[in-house]
Amino acid sequence: MPSSENLFSRVCRENRKKQTQILGIMASPRKGGNADILLEEVLKAARQSQAITEKIIINDLSFIPCQACEDTREDGRCKIEDDFQKIYEAVLRADSIVVASPIYFGSISAQLKMLIDRFQCYWRAKYVTKTIDEALMKQGGFICVQASSENIFFDNARSIMKNFFNTAGIEYCREIFCSGLEKKGSVKEKPDYMEKAAAMGEKLAQFKKGKFA
Ligand SMILES: Cc1cc2nc3c(=O)[nH]c(=O)nc-3n(C[C@H](O)[C@H](O)[C@H](O)COP(=O)(O)O)c2cc1C
Repeated sequence: MPSSENLFSRVCRENRKKQTQILGIMASPRKGGNADILLEEVLKAARQSQAITEKIIINDLSFIPCQACEDTREDGRCKIEDDFQKIYEAVLRADSIVVASPIYFGSISAQLKMLIDRFQCYWRAKYVTKTIDEALMKQGGFICVQASSENIFFDNARSIMKNFFNTAGIEYCREIFCSGLEKKGSVKEKPDYMEKAAAMGEKLAQFKKGKFA
């Protein structure tokens, strides 16, 4: 790697594989729960459509919330060296990102909010120092599950995810909102939700970011 090359450029340069790369981000602490099952369905369908998939379980990683540092780096990378760096590199590598979260108290999970806030470094590089390449638009899908049938909770979650995706250069293009799911694994009894997840995986597998297609 040339010494002047920053992390963003390096990851993009290395991301020249022909197959579409899809990153799944699981934001529930409940492995094998509803968000996890739906995310697995998306990734399985994507693999069947020849995509390469990667999955991150946020709750398995160790990172702290954003510290609102004033002396940030200018290359878009957060200076705090913890497991967030793994997430950041995986997001840069991917063509498409799928995030799956439960509704907790009317919003996304705390695990996911912590991840999003750590992208403040990326926001700064994009809008303040302007060191992020805008041509690298990715596609994004959002899966959200909840016990109740309150649409306002999904509206809250969508609003946060759109804000995040927009900052990270990810086009918010697909969503699946699933109500009435309280017990772990209850989504398996809802074939319509499972079918929507498989369809999302197939669609995302067809997308390859323009620059390296
Ligand atoms: C801390 C906590 C808060 C929750 N808050 C809500 C809520 O505000 N509205 C709702 O409909 N369900 C709420 N639920 C239920 C979960 O959204 C629901 O059980 C979901 O299916 C869990 O997804 P998972 O299996 O992927 O973990 C909450 C569950 C927990 C543990």
